[in-house]
Amino acid sequence: MDDNEPLKIAEGIYWVGVVDWNLRDFHGYETPKGGSYNAYLIIDEKIALIDTVKATFSEEMLKRIKKIVDPSKIDYVISNHVEMDHSSSISTIMDIAPGAKLFASSKGQTGLSEHYKEDGCENWNFQVVKTGDEISLGKRTLMFIEATMLHWPDSMQTYLKEDKILFSNDAFGQHIATSKRFDDEVEDVMEDAAIYYANILLPFSPQVLKYVEKLKELDVSPEMIAPAHGLIWRKGVSRVIEEYGKWARGYSLPKLLVIYDSMWGSTEKMAMEIVEGVRSAGVEVRLRHLRKNDWSMTMKEVMESPVIAIGSPTMNNRMFYTISGFLTYVAGLRPKGKKYFLFGSYGWGGGAVKGMEKEIESAKFELAMESMQVKFRPYEEDKRACRDIGYKLGEMAKENAKS
Ligand code: FEO
Repeated sequence: MDDNEPLKIAEGIYWVGVVDWNLRDFHGYETPKGGSYNAYLIIDEKIALIDTVKATFSEEMLKRIKKIVDPSKIDYVISNHVEMDHSSSISTIMDIAPGAKLFASSKGQTGLSEHYKEDGCENWNFQVVKTGDEISLGKRTLMFIEATMLHWPDSMQTYLKEDKILFSNDAFGQHIATSKRFDDEVEDVMEDAAIYYANILLPFSPQVLKYVEKLKELDVSPEMIAPAHGLIWRKGVSRVIEEYGKWARGYSLPKLLVIYDSMWGSTEKMAMEIVEGVRSAGVEVRLRHLRKNDWSMTMKEVMESPVIAIGSPTMNNRMFYTISGFLTYVAGLRPKGKKYFLFGSYGWGGGAVKGMEKEIESAKFELAMESMQVKFRPYEEDKRACRDIGYKLGEMAKENAKS
């Protein structure tokens, strides 16, 4: 297949996005599998482009569009979201098709106007739309759905009524680079969708619940969901909507997460003993060294674990920098209903546990058990204590799992 070949996802509807194979860091969010920016072209009496791609990939998107239609013939550009991975090629399109109408939410128009002052946005033919507004493409109709705070104030989605395709922008996305385009062509897509949710949408879970209800009120029951990142849902449409509801309600599994860092192995030994204790309670446990594991993946483990043990050595009277960075990351994502246990080691003054206590306060986690610290290294008695604690935490994880 030609590298620039667009992909027909339904009659007259094409994926014209790009795959970012080497994306490993998406503004600080680790993307070990790469990513994609999905744009879609609809050919009807009117030609509509839904979203664009990161500016560095504008030419690649244009090549795909040109395989279908002369881009100067585009009548409508739909900007579902201002963030630059979707909007930064709009100016390229508007230069080529200056007569095109540019549809955005009210906050979308404001955001685009503030962001693209140097790109001639004062000449763009903005059309502000709100939930329920419709435009006809000829045989087809596009309906707009504001998706405020999923995940920016301007976020919007577009529903192609006759084909029942929901262009959901960031919602329902996954960060995966693949030559496949549909969910049923790739294994474990739901796992990637969960990682994406945990790192991007988790703080907006109350809005997700309202949004799922709004879809029902609007009688939007898509047969295909075409997000702006990753694979298009055609087999797992209802399942991914259900999973979003579940994640948003704060579900967790009977599972315990141990996250830690270690300098000379003492905190690590404590972590290993805690793991043993959890195992002896018959509970699943995950151990994550924060310098050796992707934080985005670990965040999904946080989402799924009702109880989290966090361990840090003391360095310069403080917690280790990876622990403080990760706890700041977690606090921003606001997972609900989590219990915590802190542990660590020190040589003289200590300070790690105190620092973690302060940081975890802002995450609003609930104390599971009093913290434990050892001086220099854990001896047999300390190890036994860690195993006992692990057992109790495991029991707690069973009690606190939420389906
Ligand atoms: Fe994919 Fe919020 O940008």
